[in-house]
Amino acid sequence: MCGIIGYIGDKDALPILLKGLRRLEYRGYDSAGVAVIESGKITRVRSVGRIDKLTKELKNNELHGHIGIAHTRWATHGGVTQENAHPHVALDGKLALVHNGIIENYRELKNQLGDIKFESQTDSEILVHLIASFYNGDLKQAVTNALRHVRGTYGLAVVYADNQDELIVARLGSPLVVGLGEGEYYVASDATPILPYTKKVIFLEDGEIGRITKDGLETTNLSDELVTKCVEEIEWTDEEAEKQGFDHFMLKEIFDQPQVFQDAIRGRYNLTEGTAYLGGLNMTDEEIHSIDRIVLIACGTASYAAMIGKYAFERLANISTEVDVASEFRYRNPIINEKTLVFAISQSGETADTLAAVREAKRRGAFVRGIVNVVGSTIARETDGGTYMHAGPELSVASTKAYTNMVAILLLYAIEFGRTRLITLATGQRLLNSLREIPKKMEIILQQADKIKVIAEKYMYFKNALFLGRGINFPVVLEGSQKLKEITYIHSEAYPAGEMKHGANALLAPDFPVIGIMTKDQLYDKMRSNIEEVKARKSPIMLLATQGDEQAKELTDDVIYVPDTMELLEPLLNTIPLQLFSYYIAVLLGRDVDRPRNLAKSVTVE
Ligand code: AGP
Repeated sequence: MCGIIGYIGDKDALPILLKGLRRLEYRGYDSAGVAVIESGKITRVRSVGRIDKLTKELKNNELHGHIGIAHTRWATHGGVTQENAHPHVALDGKLALVHNGIIENYRELKNQLGDIKFESQTDSEILVHLIASFYNGDLKQAVTNALRHVRGTYGLAVVYADNQDELIVARLGSPLVVGLGEGEYYVASDATPILPYTKKVIFLEDGEIGRITKDGLETTNLSDELVTKCVEEIEWTDEEAEKQGFDHFMLKEIFDQPQVFQDAIRGRYNLTEGTAYLGGLNMTDEEIHSIDRIVLIACGTASYAAMIGKYAFERLANISTEVDVASEFRYRNPIINEKTLVFAISQSGETADTLAAVREAKRRGAFVRGIVNVVGSTIARETDGGTYMHAGPELSVASTKAYTNMVAILLLYAIEFGRTRLITLATGQRLLNSLREIPKKMEIILQQADKIKVIAEKYMYFKNALFLGRGINFPVVLEGSQKLKEITYIHSEAYPAGEMKHGANALLAPDFPVIGIMTKDQLYDKMRSNIEEVKARKSPIMLLATQGDEQAKELTDDVIYVPDTMELLEPLLNTIPLQLFSYYIAVLLGRDVDRPRNLAKSVTVE
């Protein structure tokens, strides 16, 4: 977690750094700080809390340097205090560093450095002292020498007060992007802070160290060998990374869904042939035939999208499919062979557990495909192929549009595999035609936002909630429950409704509401019976039902109607009212919707 940013050029660094920090705030928001070099002196300002607080503190502090670094922190080692905020300094304040990652051997290194006074309880501070211990006029060499002793992960930027024309960066396990302007350079944990200035970027790879001056970037590895880097072009626009008039990023991202869903499927299917084509799969039809198992690895919301993929792969392609929560995967003995196809699913492409699982699966000989949103991210680079989900920048900690697009891509893969192995042309065409209708059906749901808000007002004071669904809608209620707890802090659970009578029925009571999905599919009658049982026990009920289902109103007043679609596609619609429901409760309760407590968007630590 944590976000870092740096600038070197002719402009005033401070406004660029502060604007950049705002874009990175989703990565952590415990404390923030900047360091700018002006007239051979580093000025450092740090504060506990959000970027707004830091900005206020800087109001009376005119800093006009043309080179600087900044950091927003998600605390791992050491509490949320000003001393623990970055940048950290050494050499009487002449050397400053920002770091994202974890230095595992910091205690050992601290002992080796001996009699140095540490200002913070962080693992990061050791880095600046270690670099200082190697410094003899060549900052890049000092950073390289120091990093040879480090165990752990880092994305870092370092400046030295006497050299206003040099910014040193390095990466191992934590992302780092360099943006190339005209005679100016930007460095950041991801591309979003760079978007207002340039689309040309260089992604640093693990073990690379860069020296950036106004004239260019020189990259070497830990063995001091020169590395040639390619310039890549970012597709995202600056506007996509703004709220565009919405109160929160989350709301904007919920409303983005019809558009980004189209971006996810565009050009990736052929209606005449009733199939999908995902270029990054890199597999022949024979290879697709030979797969006998699919393993989907992901965390959190991405793992609920993966569960929908499981239903689709099993139903359309008859391939046995498992979903593995990435944090568990490598601690089991996952059975992987040459007939296993592994997909790693991740919005950020940086989730530490998912990345570790990718490496473990590769170590066991699997070909791993990525389904990733952030272009150039580590998982995208380390997988053997895969598909970008084209959701655009997702900046709210709670994932919404990326989830929908994960589901979209998984469905396309299932259709492609299904057509190669099992399903008819007519079924393929029916699925694709239904997929094409999804965006306008999403719009119909979004038009009911005000109605959902009124229902949210009724449910906002409950302390608990139970989400019920069956079949393809079970993963949807898992995701609905995740959203509720994540942004409202209301305790909630999700159950397959048929399982209630084996334990959870005991929870049902007038103060324990149920949110159920009872849309018209093969399990409709069974789900209806489950909801009748809930009603008999007097739990308040909010229901999602298919447009035209008048019977739903006999069960509760709180019905949200969704358009009809094919059963496998239902999650693409049914998730949206649940996102809005949680969003409005969070707003009504005064929660920090985009930055819920104790969380960060990109979980880059285990
Ligand atoms: C979603 O609302 C959560 N913020 C979280 O569960 C997230 O989906 C998870 O951390 C995985 O992130 P990734 O998709 O970037 O790998």
